[in-house]
Amino acid sequence: CGSGGGSKDSAGSGSGKLTVGFSQVGAESGWRTANTKSVQDAAKKAGVNLKFSDAQQKQENQIKAIRSFIQQKVDVITFSPVVESGWDTVLKEAKDAKIPVVLTDRAVDSKDESLYASFLGSDFVEEGKKAGDWLVKEYQGKTDPVNIVELQGTTGSAPANDRKAGFGDVIKADPKFKVVASQTGDFTRAKGKEVMQAFLKSQPNIDVLYAHNDDMALGAIQAIEEAGKKPGKDIKIISVDGVKDAFTAMADGKINVVVECNPLLGDQLMELVKKVKAGEQVPRRIKTVEGVFTQDQAAAALPGRQY
Ligand code: AHR
Repeated sequence: CGSGGGSKDSAGSGSGKLTVGFSQVGAESGWRTANTKSVQDAAKKAGVNLKFSDAQQKQENQIKAIRSFIQQKVDVITFSPVVESGWDTVLKEAKDAKIPVVLTDRAVDSKDESLYASFLGSDFVEEGKKAGDWLVKEYQGKTDPVNIVELQGTTGSAPANDRKAGFGDVIKADPKFKVVASQTGDFTRAKGKEVMQAFLKSQPNIDVLYAHNDDMALGAIQAIEEAGKKPGKDIKIISVDGVKDAFTAMADGKINVVVECNPLLGDQLMELVKKVKAGEQVPRRIKTVEGVFTQDQAAAALPGRQY
């Protein structure tokens, strides 16, 4: 690790510069790329020596990176956990080394809350609920069955678990909504396309696609078009994130609605790690404020989209 660090200031050098170890999930999506850039830019701006490590969507790589940060005696460790479970041992090691940990973007399911200082990121359950709310409204007053296919995010990750749960919670109130197939597309375009191709073969009547992120939705759009159907019309598409490519697809009528998940967490994260290092009281949970974008809003918002 250390590709984004590289400063001569080693941790504990007494230079006064804060050294932060950041273990990122990977580079699986447009959202992730924007998030990485936001954190790296913010670190530079804040004068933080950032040691960056890309886990390539593997928990074992993140555990290795965190252990290496502990060994290097960084001031603060921050990471976006690829999955929710299995962190207690390594988090205890950080605690024993008296290195505070800040979670960013994704949560862990550890019962022991003393293992991390704070968690900054979106409310994924709420995002799932917003997706469900849009669907309920869209089919208001209709009685025919609505067949939904779901492209889940990375298995065991907080956004996959929570977006599924939030959406399910809302649509279960009306039996006309049926999730006829649900499978992981690992948050990538390639996997989203591949799984959608399989759905199209196994499910003759798909009304709606609910994709847990834009990249999978964009991959699925290719599969739908190759099958001779019109995305956004023959099959309505609900997605999550709000990257530029999805806005373009929305403006073209191929995605019906996008629930926003904001990746631009860098500045807030730098502020937070500085406070944590200084021993200041910080909230245990900081939620990102987010909206929902429909097709008519997409074209107008497109020129100003940063990522
Ligand atoms: O954790 C946030 C999710 O991870 C984003 O929605 C997705 O695009 C990313 O890969």
